Order: sequence, then structure tokens, then C-alpha cells
Amino acid sequence: MSATPIEELAPLTEEQVQEHLAAGKLVEGLQHMSPKYLEGMRRILTVSADTEFVSAPSYLRAASHAPALNNFGSAMSIIQDELAHAHIGYRLLGDLGVDMDWLIYERPAEQFKYPYAFDVPLNSWVELVCANAMYDQAGFVLLSDVFQSSTFGPWKRALAKVDKEETFHLRHGRTWLKKLSKDPEGRAEVQAAVDWMFILTLEWFGLPDDRKKHSEQLDYGFKGKSNDQLRQWWMSEVVPFMEEIGIDVPAHFDAELDRYVIDCPFPAQFDEEKREWLLDDGAIEWDDVVTRWRGRGPMNRDYVTTLQRGYQTTSLRRAA
Ligand SMILES: [Fe+2]
Ligand SMILES: [Fe+2]
Repeated sequence: MSATPIEELAPLTEEQVQEHLAAGKLVEGLQHMSPKYLEGMRRILTVSADTEFVSAPSYLRAASHAPALNNFGSAMSIIQDELAHAHIGYRLLGDLGVDMDWLIYERPAEQFKYPYAFDVPLNSWVELVCANAMYDQAGFVLLSDVFQSSTFGPWKRALAKVDKEETFHLRHGRTWLKKLSKDPEGRAEVQAAVDWMFILTLEWFGLPDDRKKHSEQLDYGFKGKSNDQLRQWWMSEVVPFMEEIGIDVPAHFDAELDRYVIDCPFPAQFDEEKREWLLDDGAIEWDDVVTRWRGRGPMNRDYVTTLQRGYQTTSLRRAA
């Protein structure tokens, strides 16, 4: 990704970074990083920026089904926010020595690191607003956690604005879902979308804590909460809301355990063409899920091509 080896870019030792953090200081740039911190920060920023970036073509495709022009306008405003969020992440990656042109415009589609959910197409306005209520809620949970806990100052400060915009996106979703679920026909459409999207969003938070690798994300304070804690947080927002509007979801709060419990086989096999969970086949191994994620889904190439087209067909190259 970068011509300069990270050992040269990040001059501190692990102990020096830990001392810096223990003194209550934020990390402001490469001068405060060790190679391990830099590598981990690049990883989490890439996932975040890629997720924001790909949500734009995904939402744009669905926005073409907007019921009226002003609704299309709301969707476009969300898409503009997402592109600005992506820009924050990529710009910071540029400061961390990554070749931004390669990362954004030249990287092969299958190397993008966003959640698999965005590889499954959103085919209607109802699916777009369901995505706002569930996917943007996931984004909000993940980014609020980074905002509260991140030790990387430039990102932390930028997220103050991002958080507010994500709140607008998920409210847009909720307002629509409340309205749609008032009549039986609308409720059936929402239910059909939630049936495949809910479980995909559960997967979004990644491997369960006992299977997770990258521990520097917590050790270094890149994040405050673990994957399972974030998945719980998301369910605590989404499950009560869905219950309130009369939509069934395969999860409930267990008072005895004091946490949300998933009521269907999880993780499960997903038929990406039909957009259906093969729940009758029972739960599968996380390794099989990781294989599906790595293979990317139906829209990966299409969306990345859309995002890279302008660069490929114009001469906006950076001066050497
Ligand atoms: Fe966003
Ligand atoms: Fe969003």
C-alpha cells in the first residue's frame, strides 16, 4: 500500500506508545505511533472508510425508487454525508502514509473491506429505509464507540459531526418504518426486508469475542467495546423499536440472562441470489461465514466500478 515501510513511518516503541496513552494523551499522528499501532489504525480506518464509501452506490441504486422527489432529496443528502464520512477516513489514511489514489480508485473491488451486507442489493425504497434503520444504526453504534474510546485524536474529533449525521440517517429510517408499518401491506413489505437484513446486520459486528483476532483494537483503545458488546448494543436499539412497530425479529431480551438472545440458528447459511437465510439447515461454523465474506457478494464489483469510474475516465491524477 505504501512505498515507505511502516517501521520507518512510526518511530515509537510499543512501550513508548503505552506510556503516552497512560499519561492521558491522544495520538495525533505518525510521530506518536509504533508500527503495531499504525498497522492496527490503518486496518480499522480502512474498514470504516470502505463501509461509508460503498454505502453511497448501494443507497443511490435504491434511491431511484423514491416515491417522490423530496424523498429522493432526503436520500441524496444521506448519500452526500456518507461520501464525506468516507473522505474523512481516506484522508486520515493518506496522513498515515497510505497511497490514497490506489486505495480509493485503483484497488481491486474484492480487496475492499466493508461488511458483506452491502454486497447484497437494496432493490426498493422500503429496503433503503430499512437499511437506514438497521445498517446506519450499526454504523452509529460502531462509530459512537470509536468516538468515545479512540485514542487517535484526529479521527475522534472528526467523529463528533459524523455521529450527528448518522443519527439523522437512522431517524430517517425509523420515521419511514413507523409510517409504512401502519397498514398491512406496508408492514408486510417491511417484514420481508427485515427478514433478510436483520441477520445480515447481526453478522456485521464480526466474529464472537472468543473467536476474534485483532486484540490491539481494544488494547490500544481503538475501540472501547468488544464485538459481542457492540452486537448487544445494536440489538438493544433495534429489537424494541421493531417490536413497537409490530415487526418480528429473531431476537428478544432475556431478563434472566440480562442480555439479548438470538432466536434463530446463528451464524447461518445465506442464499445471496434469493436473499434468504437457510435457517432450516441449522447453524454453520464462523469459518464458513468468513469464506462467504472473503468471496464478496453480488454487488461488490458493480458498486466499486461505479465509485472508480470517474477517476478511470478523467485525468485528475495527483502531481508527482
Ligand atoms: Fe456514514
Ligand atoms: Fe449513514
